[in-house]
Amino acid sequence: MTTLFINIKELIQVRDSSILKVSGQEMKELPTIKNAFLLIEGERIKDYGSMDSLPKINADKTIDLTGRIMLPTWCDSHTHLVFAATREGEFVDRINGLTYEEIAEKGGGILNSAKKLQEKTEEELYSEAEQRLQDVLKMGTGAIEIKSGYGLSLEGEIKMLRVIKKLKENYTIPIKSTFLGAHAIPTEYKNNREAYIDLIINEMMPIIHKEGLADYIDVFCEKGYYTPEETNQILKAGKSIGLIPKVHVNQFNSIGGISVSVKNDALSVDHLEVMTEEDLEILSNSDTMPVALPSCSFFLGIPYTNGREIINSDLPLALATDYNPGSTPSGNMNFVVSLACIRMKLTPEEAINAATINGAYALNLSNDIGSITKGKLANIMITKPITSYSFIPYNFGNHCIDSVYIKGQTI
Ligand code: NIG
Ligand code: FE
Repeated sequence: MTTLFINIKELIQVRDSSILKVSGQEMKELPTIKNAFLLIEGERIKDYGSMDSLPKINADKTIDLTGRIMLPTWCDSHTHLVFAATREGEFVDRINGLTYEEIAEKGGGILNSAKKLQEKTEEELYSEAEQRLQDVLKMGTGAIEIKSGYGLSLEGEIKMLRVIKKLKENYTIPIKSTFLGAHAIPTEYKNNREAYIDLIINEMMPIIHKEGLADYIDVFCEKGYYTPEETNQILKAGKSIGLIPKVHVNQFNSIGGISVSVKNDALSVDHLEVMTEEDLEILSNSDTMPVALPSCSFFLGIPYTNGREIINSDLPLALATDYNPGSTPSGNMNFVVSLACIRMKLTPEEAINAATINGAYALNLSNDIGSITKGKLANIMITKPITSYSFIPYNFGNHCIDSVYIKGQTI
């Protein structure tokens, strides 16, 4: 099956050779072709170029995109899309003056989600997560990472990971699965944290390994959650069963999580609302992708990741949603790209690079997605008729994605 798109107003993020990520000054450049064509053959991008150079092609289907822009789909490298219940009660508590940390200390937050998750069956969790996945697909997300971390018990964590595995099997969108057993310390282990860490390493991990339930290992390294030493211990154990670290660090405090993550060859470090000079320095000497989650800052009213400083330090930066019931009840990557421009002062070029090619890197998928490159998967999105690609972040709170193709198939 071949599909030919013609008269594309502008084809965005065109990379002739497959690059894995863009850093620093390179992020300001977003290569495009105006008045373009693109040919899909099967699951992959076969050819593209300017309409002036359109060869004679006998495609099965030809689609005229006059006035519309085409981009590679968004790559959302950080979500908690499987969860049991929303938490609008805490949202109201925050309006009335409590902080996210105060709510967590009172047994709300992640522990609240863990309690709710116990009461739901795998089937119920699956059908709710599936609905969320379908919703974000329509908004242009074409590859996604999903974490466990609301189980916080052997049974709960495995249940979540099985739901993610089933989503992987039933959907064509590339999905990566992350084991986040170390998301919080369960109440019953409050005075015996070592026992919970022991459960993670010696009981959960062997099952995860045996059933192939995860690609990545994550820890919430933060005051009141996991120390850098505990993070190190859990990441090392994860690595020993083939899981690659992707770590929650520096959301509220810089306590050494970046150093531990980089030493364990983390694929990404995520959040980074609070950064020191030393943290930036450590990242400069690494292959680890810094990931900002601006919707979380927006929703909690906490500082935004200083993306300008990260990019100006010649580092790469990726953007993701953090979709979860507590700190970010939204999986809309279009809004993330808007916030990155409006609040983090990224240019549209930088934000689109961060949400496509660099997001693909943070998923360990940049060989296959994240740019318009011959041979990559045909995961593409088409806008409504719009004036320019800067309209995408400008149009905040709305989105202009009209159609989405995953592996060459319209969804
Ligand atoms: O990335 N910070 C840790 N974990 C999630 C929030 C989890 C929750 O509040 O349910 C996050 O923001
Ligand atoms: Fe998160």
